Amino acid sequence: MKKNYIFIFLLMVGTTSAYSQSEINPFNYHSKKDINVKNGAVVSAHPLASEAGLRMLREGGNAIDAAIATQLALAVVFPEAGNIGGGGFTVIHLSNGKNITIDYRETAPGKSFRDMYLDSAGNPLLNLSQNGHLASGVPGVIAGLFKCMKYAKLPFKKLIAPAIELAEKGFAITENEAYELNHYQGDFKKYSSVTPVFVRDTKWKAGDILVQKDLANTLKRIRDNGRKGFYEGETARLIVEEMQRGHGIISYSDLKNYQAKERAPIEFNYKGAKVITMPLPSSGGIILEQMLKMSEMNHLSKMKFETPQSINLMVEIERRCYADRGKYLGDPDFYKVPVKTLVSDAYLKERMSTFIPGKAGSSKDIKEGIIPESEQTTHFNVLDKDGNAVSVTTTINGGYGSRVVVGHAGFLLNNEMDDFSVKPGVPNMFGAVGQEANAIAPHKRMLSSMTPTIVLRNNKPWILVGTPGGTTIITSVYQTIVDIMDFGMDPHDAVNKPKFHHQWLPDVVYLEKGFDENVKNQLEEMGYKIQMRGAIGRTEVIMVNKDGSMTAVADHRGDDGAVGY
Ligand code: GLY
Repeated sequence: MKKNYIFIFLLMVGTTSAYSQSEINPFNYHSKKDINVKNGAVVSAHPLASEAGLRMLREGGNAIDAAIATQLALAVVFPEAGNIGGGGFTVIHLSNGKNITIDYRETAPGKSFRDMYLDSAGNPLLNLSQNGHLASGVPGVIAGLFKCMKYAKLPFKKLIAPAIELAEKGFAITENEAYELNHYQGDFKKYSSVTPVFVRDTKWKAGDILVQKDLANTLKRIRDNGRKGFYEGETARLIVEEMQRGHGIISYSDLKNYQAKERAPIEFNYKGAKVITMPLPSSGGIILEQMLKMSEMNHLSKMKFETPQSINLMVEIERRCYADRGKYLGDPDFYKVPVKTLVSDAYLKERMSTFIPGKAGSSKDIKEGIIPESEQTTHFNVLDKDGNAVSVTTTINGGYGSRVVVGHAGFLLNNEMDDFSVKPGVPNMFGAVGQEANAIAPHKRMLSSMTPTIVLRNNKPWILVGTPGGTTIITSVYQTIVDIMDFGMDPHDAVNKPKFHHQWLPDVVYLEKGFDENVKNQLEEMGYKIQMRGAIGRTEVIMVNKDGSMTAVADHRGDDGAVGY
């Protein structure tokens, strides 16, 4: 296996830290991309967040403890996507064999309504669904973390301590973070009613120390008062006052009544392994099941990685699944989704009956199937020595969400309302279209693509996988699984080799930079419209090897870091 240690920077700024020798110093750290360990591993978008999780494993916590600590630390060290102002999904496999999912997706505020992003002539106002106060759904992350607590071993006060420390004492930002913060200066000023800590007169640069006192105080209120420390009292007051200043609609009762939900996972067999993944309101699990089953039916494993033949098949599978997503998928508490039919063998066989090998299909001809009677996010995985596995994807939707930082509370709010279909057929920021199933309604959850997934072999964790990337999430998780299971690739390459994506509309195959030029030309000859694009996702994988050791791979596309012991 390729060992790839990326040094973000090595910097001594003379700041004291409570971090001991064995832990990563927040003022002087680097990110490890591939590790092989025996006792436990954490892989996330930021090495300091991974380290917060590892600290819990070392101190007797289980994978759930580590996941909670990692998630809270991401809210501090990775503000573009890690968050307490958004939502997410957690998939858990417990060592006693139980599989669980926790849904803490944001909900539409009580004052929302179906056409709230249309002008009087019915034209979409995407600026409002994507930016500023009206773009935010009611945050779910803190409710989700407390829902997970019943599977944790350590007290919450311990789990939140690293996040508070990182917010209060600060940490050195990476080059990528500096770039992003500089890029969004104008938006932070425009959309936040109180100037946030991210705004400054001089440009951010790698190694600058980001101290977030307001966020530290918000985290302390959560530490001291539990979920009420966020959904009631001072933090709720600061959120509602922020809404009032910016003409947003999240109310005290929206916050107080927000509920995270434990849902039955999607579970299915693929080539003798068992896949555990997220049900609705994520489209990820259903679409992943459709894609893997269609791959098996059409003998993908007889093909090779990223040849014209395998891409032709996989793109035609992706095309058909995303057509279904747009039509049928939405919040199951509001809309009856024909899940059983969508993943049935007969339906999937029929869907592929129009596939002609060697020829590009057309999204004009291929619509959703007929049924009698639906980018900034972050993913992390944790695996402990006892075989407890956690796969978590959370989001505030776009980079830095709505770009509204709650005044004096120090955290960003999501712009997740754009994941609803603001009008049938109008693409959202990921180009995804939807219809009635994903229309806006008060308290409804917007459809997601997040696909945190655990694959079991012999009923024990084998592959933990997930990624950010909007609608590309599902295709990246799909490709990572088949790269390992069908094409025999090692996890390093499955994470880092270029990916591709098709989502029905637009009828384009996106190829990630670095893609084989020859294959690209042959796909064009088949009739595909190809568009090159930048990074697709930031996939994190933990894989258990035959000897029981764990390989954790952090995506080379970002600052992501793997740690373990
Ligand atoms: N906001 C991206 C997703 O949930 O799919």
